[in-house]
Amino acid sequence: MRGKFITLEGLDGAGKSTHLARLVEFLQRHGKTVVQTREPGGTPLGEKLRELLLAEPMHLETEALLMFAARREHLARVIVPALERGDWVVCDRFTDASFAYQGGGRGLALDKLETLETWVQGGLNPDLTLLFDVPTEIALGRVKSMGRELDRFEQEKVEFFERVRAAYLERARAAPGRIRLIDGSRSVLEISAILEEISISVCK
Ligand code: ADP
Ligand code: TYD
Repeated sequence: MRGKFITLEGLDGAGKSTHLARLVEFLQRHGKTVVQTREPGGTPLGEKLRELLLAEPMHLETEALLMFAARREHLARVIVPALERGDWVVCDRFTDASFAYQGGGRGLALDKLETLETWVQGGLNPDLTLLFDVPTEIALGRVKSMGRELDRFEQEKVEFFERVRAAYLERARAAPGRIRLIDGSRSVLEISAILEEISISVCK
């Protein structure tokens, strides 16, 4: 039986990385073999593209094309083989991030993103997406207080992240069956409890 494909989304600092490990643990407890991965990245080539994407200034369409190029590789080498083996895949960001950051944040036309989505995914979409929603100031405050060097996206202005957040929320409104909104401003413990409940229901 094909495994399930779960993605985590939200602004930088929303809490995805913090909660991903917990989610994987809950799924494993239910007997699932889980492949944990991320975008951009997840393959040797994808990780090289990630380095470029996070550091190198580029045209917004180049940025979108490289995101989807890394995704094509990721699907072919990691995600599809894992799902076909019956493993579950938990991925830190996927195509909703392209619609939110390149579409909402940068203003790239949605029809171009939709064309890339159809080309690269050919109908394969996440079964479940957990969208960690937090007010922009909280998310950016968390990123800054981590005290590490900010990447090219994290250096963007507050207005950029406001547009990213609005685009994510719009995606959630358009796909309520797939995208589950999580209030990322709640405590780590409260969110863990929510994830445990979600794990129980998806593993049924
Ligand atoms: P993301 O992967 O979405 O960029 P992280 O999981 O790396 O976000 O979290 C960013 C920072 O915020 C980390 O220092 C983390 O400990 C903290 N953090 C994450 N979730 C919460 C939460 N619910 N409440 C308070 N702090 C949090
Ligand atoms: P991420 O790995 O979440 O960064 P961090 O671990 O520093 O929180 O993602 C890196 C950046 O890539 C993030 O700012 C969002 C951006 N991104 C896009 O702009 N489009 C995409 O399609 C993806 C997958 C990520």
